[in-house]
This record gives sequence, structure tokens and C-alpha cells, in this order.
Amino acid sequence: MNCAGTLGELLPEHYIRALQKTRIARCSRILYPAHLKRMSTPSQSNPLPEPVPQLDLSAQYAAIGGEIRTAVERVMASQQFVLGREGAALEEEIARLCGAAHGIGVASGTDALILALRACGVHSGDEVLLPPFTFVATGSAVSALGARPVFADIRPDTYNIDPGEFERRVTPRTRAIVVVHLYGLAADMDPILVFAKARKLPVIEDNAQAIGASYKGRRTGSFGDVACLSFYPTKNLGAYGDAGMVVTNSAELAARIRTLRNHGQTAKYRSSEPGWNSRLDEIQAAILRVKLHHLSNWQRARQSHAAEYHRLFSQIPGVMPPLTPEGFEHVYHQYTIRIEQRDALQKFLSERKIGSTVYYPYPLHLQPLYSALGHQAGDFPHAERAAQEVLSLPMYPELCKEQIARVVDTIAEFLKY
Ligand SMILES: Cc1ncc(COP(=O)(O)O)c(C=O)c1O
Repeated sequence: MNCAGTLGELLPEHYIRALQKTRIARCSRILYPAHLKRMSTPSQSNPLPEPVPQLDLSAQYAAIGGEIRTAVERVMASQQFVLGREGAALEEEIARLCGAAHGIGVASGTDALILALRACGVHSGDEVLLPPFTFVATGSAVSALGARPVFADIRPDTYNIDPGEFERRVTPRTRAIVVVHLYGLAADMDPILVFAKARKLPVIEDNAQAIGASYKGRRTGSFGDVACLSFYPTKNLGAYGDAGMVVTNSAELAARIRTLRNHGQTAKYRSSEPGWNSRLDEIQAAILRVKLHHLSNWQRARQSHAAEYHRLFSQIPGVMPPLTPEGFEHVYHQYTIRIEQRDALQKFLSERKIGSTVYYPYPLHLQPLYSALGHQAGDFPHAERAAQEVLSLPMYPELCKEQIARVVDTIAEFLKY
């Protein structure tokens, strides 16, 4: 499958050339791996279908590996590995991208959430409002501080927290609201901010999945008191290991988080409160700075792939593609469809070598981790139903139209059964 033609309009020429070189090499391995050759000999008329992975980070590395190695060499030559120039530059660049005044590099998205909650004054025994349909880290960050997660159901169409739920979930012990911009789509920030302001509650954006997304012309990460980013390798901007960042417009919160991420030190070897080590290292920062140059092209490519999926799915009843309400810009960290026969479809795709993932099969309130909270099935019906029906399809910048067509054709074939 030669995808260069369809990708040419989306990604720069040098990028496509690098990608094409390795793709041709990889395709021949993928098409005719040794063990399959033994089982059957693909002919011209009936070749083995090329697998379509859900995510292919090696395609990205094929295109930008040279730039990455140069950046890593630069750090090696400087012999400065922690809290140096690369990290400081990345903090500025990410804060600017999010429309925030300050960035504080930390060790992971989870640490970003814990630090943000702590800086916003969340303590043991406090309650924090958050959606039950998210990665467990959103909840475990709350639990790490000894606070209690209080769930508010999601909207069934966007999968994001429903601010209409807040009134019946808030109590005098509520100390903060965490909103998640799931799959790359912003939560509905206007009503969230109105509620938070009326109740004087800080808002923390879990922006792990939505860097670059926007809501009514403003980037996610610029709405809350603080916002948290994850640079986990599979994210739209992913490091080569764990990394994260907090962004904020508050100089006071930024200073506090800077202190907390480094053992509570307000001056060298002088600590004024307990903190821990959650510093972002220079190698990861240098890699992320290289990748940041590509992010807007990658985002356009993701959006174009989503448009192609939408176009093809518009002919296929029974599949609900992701919704982007008016005024939102989705960055498609995931392209997530909804379908009643989800598990059977996933098996069907897997048998045909098409990757897909369920993000997330268990809502937080039904996780064993939270059994002590005493929730039952039925407490958050929209989150529970989403957990049974969502399926994320292949989505990454280097995906091509032919691969998207194969995914959609295979789903159409499944639905005819
Ligand atoms: C919504 C959400 N929140 C938090 C996290 C935690 O980030 P990390 O894995 O960098 O700790 C992730 C990603 O893994 C995430 O997807």
C-alpha cells in the first residue's frame, strides 16, 4: 500500500520521503512475514492484507529520527540533564501554545494532576468533582492526596463531564473540579466556569489528551486555574518516556508548583514544605521540543483523517462517529466510534489485523480501586454505556486514506453479518 500520494497534501515533502523509504521496507516485511509465508503464499490477485495498527509510532520515528538524535546529542554534549535550558524553553513553548503564562515541567501527567490539586488547596478528606469516564489517573491523583473523588456523569454525545450534574453532586466539602478533555475534544467550559465561579471552586483541566484543541476560539489549558498535560509516548505530543507539564496563568500557583516538584525547596537546599522529586529531564524536553515543531502538521493530518472517516461512515448506519459541537476544535487524540456490538466488532477487526482499543472499559466508579465508595452499576448510566460501546480506531498522522478505507470497509462487512 503506497500511502505517499494521499499524505502528500498533509505533511511536508521531506517528511513523506523519509516515511516512504521506511514504509516500503516495512510493508514488504509486514506483507510477507516469514511465518505467514510458510502457511500460504500470497499471490498477485490475493495478497495478504496489510495490518493497520491502531497507532504506529515507528512511522513517526522513521520520519523524524534524525532530528531527534541531533537533539539528544545536544543534551549529551551539554552534560546538563535536569532543570536546564531545554526544560525551560519547553515550558515557555508549551505555555504559549496553551495560551497560559507559565509552564512547569514535571515527571508525568499524573504528577501534574497531583501537584495541581495540591497547589489548589486539596487536602485529605476534601471532595473533588470529576467524570467517571476517564483514565484512572484522573481519579488516582485525587486519591493520592487522601481526597475523595465525587463523580459527575458524562454527556452521552461528547463523553465529557456534564456540568448539569454538578448541582446535585456538590457538597460543603467540595474543594475543586477536575474536567477532562477526553479523546482530544474540550469539555463544555462555559457552564463549568460559571458554576465554579459561583461556588468559588478552582477548576483543573486534565488536558492530557487534548493539547492544541480549542473551545470557542481559545485553547484548552487556558480555561482553568491550572491545566495538566501528559507527554506519555502515545499522546499527540509524546516523549520517549514519561513526562508532563502544568500550565497556569497564576504566578502564585506556578511558583508553588515549581517548589513542590523539587522537594519543596524555595532556595537551594532550603525546603519550606514537603514536596517530592517530579522534575522533567532535559533529554525528554529536547525530544518534545523537536516534536512540538511538527505538532500543527500532525494535528491537521489527524483532522483530515477524521474527516475521511466521517465521510465514509456517513454511508454506514449503526456506527456513531465522534461528535464535534459547533465552536469546538477536536484534535482527535482518538477517533472513537460507538457501536452496540462493540466487543464482537473488535474481535472481527483483530482477526483481520486491524488494531482498535477500548478507552476505557471500566468507568472509575466501578473499579475495584473505588469499591469503598459504595457505587453500583446504574449510578452513572452514560459513563457505563459508553464503557460498553466505545471503540477507538486507527488514528495517527501517518495513516493514509487507503488504510482508513480498509478499516471502514471491514466495519461495513461486519455489520452485514
Ligand atoms: C485523561 C488522562 N489523565 C491523566 C493521564 C496521566 O498521564 P501520565 O500517564 O503521563 O501520568 C493520562 C494519560 O496517561 C490521561 O489520558
